[in-house]
Amino acid sequence: MTAHPFAGRSLTAIRDLNRTERLYLYDQTRRLKQALAAGDTVAEAFRIDDPDFGMYEIFLEDSTRTRESFKNAALFHRIKLSELNAASSSFNKKESYADTIANLVGYGNRVFVLRTALEGVCRHLAEQTDAYRRRHGIDHGVSFINAGDGRHEHPTQELLDEFTFLEDLNWSSDSIHLALVGDLYHGRTVHSKVHGLDLFSNVRVDLVAPSELAMPAGYVNAMTEQGFAVRQFDSISSYLAAGDTAPQWYFTRPQLERMGERVLRRQDELRGAITFTPDLIPQVGPETRFYHPLPRHREHPTVPRELDDTPLNAWERQSANGYLVRIALLAMVAGKLGDDYRGPVGPEAVPTPEYAMDVAPTAGEPKRYSEGVRPIHDGLVIDHICTGDEPEEIRRHMTTLQAVVGLNGRGGEWVSTGRDGTFKGILFRPGFPEPDEGQIATLAAVVPGATINVVRDGAVARKVRLLSPARISAIPALRCGNPQCITDPAHGEQILPSFVRIGGDRYACEYCSHDHGFKEIWR
Ligand code: CP
Repeated sequence: MTAHPFAGRSLTAIRDLNRTERLYLYDQTRRLKQALAAGDTVAEAFRIDDPDFGMYEIFLEDSTRTRESFKNAALFHRIKLSELNAASSSFNKKESYADTIANLVGYGNRVFVLRTALEGVCRHLAEQTDAYRRRHGIDHGVSFINAGDGRHEHPTQELLDEFTFLEDLNWSSDSIHLALVGDLYHGRTVHSKVHGLDLFSNVRVDLVAPSELAMPAGYVNAMTEQGFAVRQFDSISSYLAAGDTAPQWYFTRPQLERMGERVLRRQDELRGAITFTPDLIPQVGPETRFYHPLPRHREHPTVPRELDDTPLNAWERQSANGYLVRIALLAMVAGKLGDDYRGPVGPEAVPTPEYAMDVAPTAGEPKRYSEGVRPIHDGLVIDHICTGDEPEEIRRHMTTLQAVVGLNGRGGEWVSTGRDGTFKGILFRPGFPEPDEGQIATLAAVVPGATINVVRDGAVARKVRLLSPARISAIPALRCGNPQCITDPAHGEQILPSFVRIGGDRYACEYCSHDHGFKEIWR
C-alpha cells in the first residue's frame, strides 16, 4: 500500500509543502469555500470526525487569529482539542520542549500547533518525535505546525495569503507583482514569502520599508537567487513617486515588542513611512488590493480604518480564508484529504553537488612542498586557505580548522603572499595519513576553496580541490549565530545545527534560516 502523501506531515516552514502540494491545498480550500457558501454536503467530506484524534495548541506568544482559527477548524472537524497552559506548565521548571511534547504524544495526540518566540522549534520537535515514535512503536505520524516562530516564519499565514492572492488573480499562478510594506525586518509573515512566492512562475517584489525595518539581506539575496525581480524603497511616498506600483500590497505592522530602544525612539517617524493615508488613494489603480495579516494597532494602524469601506480592503476576506485553509490543512495531515493527489511528495530536496574533486597533480615534474628549508617526505599540505582574506582572519580560521578537523600536531601553518599580492593560508602536517571521505567532507565545510595535497616520497601523489558543500551538518563545532535559534546551547535542547548553502559562500541555518558567511558557522 502506498503511504498517504500528507498524513502525519509537519509544516515547520513554508518549503515543507512543495509548490504542487500547495496548489492542491488551495484547490481543496476553494472547493470547501464554495461548498460552505452553498450549504452543500460536499463540506462533510472534509471532516476528520474522530473524537479520539487529538490536536494540541501551544501558544507561548499572544495570538487571536491563528489560535482561534485553528480552534474553530478543530471544532469543524469534531476532533479532540487541547490547549497547554504554558504559564502554569512545567516549562517553568525548565523542562525542555522535547520532553514536554514527548509526554503529549504519549497521550495519543497527533497534531501540535505551536507559536514560540524561539525559532526552529517545530523542526526540532518533528525530529525528536520521530525518535520517540520509533522507541515506542507508534505507527502513525505526528504533525507539528508552526504558528509563528520569532522572526523566522509563519507558514500557515503564508498559505492563507497565497490562497487570497490566487483568488484575486483569478486562480492563475503565472505571475504576481506584490509590494511588501512595513516591518520587513521582524515580520515572519513576509519572511515566509521569500520561498512561498515561488508558487508563481514570474515574481516581482517591491520592498517598502525604512532601513531600520528593511528585509534582512539574506532574504533579499534568496529572492534574487530564485529569479524574483526585486526593487527596494524606503517609504510609501518614494514608492509612489517611482511609479509602476504593484496591484497587490501586503502590509505588516511594526513589531514594537521585538524592537530595541534605539529603534523604538523613532517609532513615529518609522510608522509614518509605512502608513497609507486615505489622501493617497487616488495614486493607486482602481484594481489595487491591500492585504494585512492583522492585527492592526488600534491607535496607529498602518492601514487606517477609513480604508475599510473601500475596494482596497482584501484583508478581511484574507483573514476569513485563514479558517478555511486551516480546515483543509488539518484534513490533509490527518489523512482525510489527499488520496487523489498525484504530484511530487515532500519538500524539494537540497541538491548534493560535489564537495571535493580530485585534480591532477601539477603536470611535468611532480610538485614538491617544503616547510621552511626542509622538504616534506610524507604527509599533508593544505594550501590556498582563505585566499584573498586579511592575514589575521586567515590565522583565526586556520585555528578553527585545526580544532574542527583534529589537525593538531607536528608541522606548521603560515600565511603567505601570492604573486598578485593577496594572502593565503598554508598548513603543513608531515607524517599525517591521507584523509578519508568523511574528513575530506569536513575539510570542505571549513575551508572551501583550499586544496589538499597528499605527499608521498617527497612528491604530491594526490591533489583534491575543496568545493563549498550544499549542506553542512553533524559536526559538533557548528553553531548558529542567532541567539533566538532553538539550537543555541543557551536553550538547553542539545541540538547540532545544520546549514544549507544559499549561494556563494553563504549558509542558512536549517532551523531558523539565519544567514551566515561560511566562517561564521564555526564556534
Ligand atoms: N496573523 C496572525 O498571526 O494573527 P495573530 O497574531 O492574531 O494570530
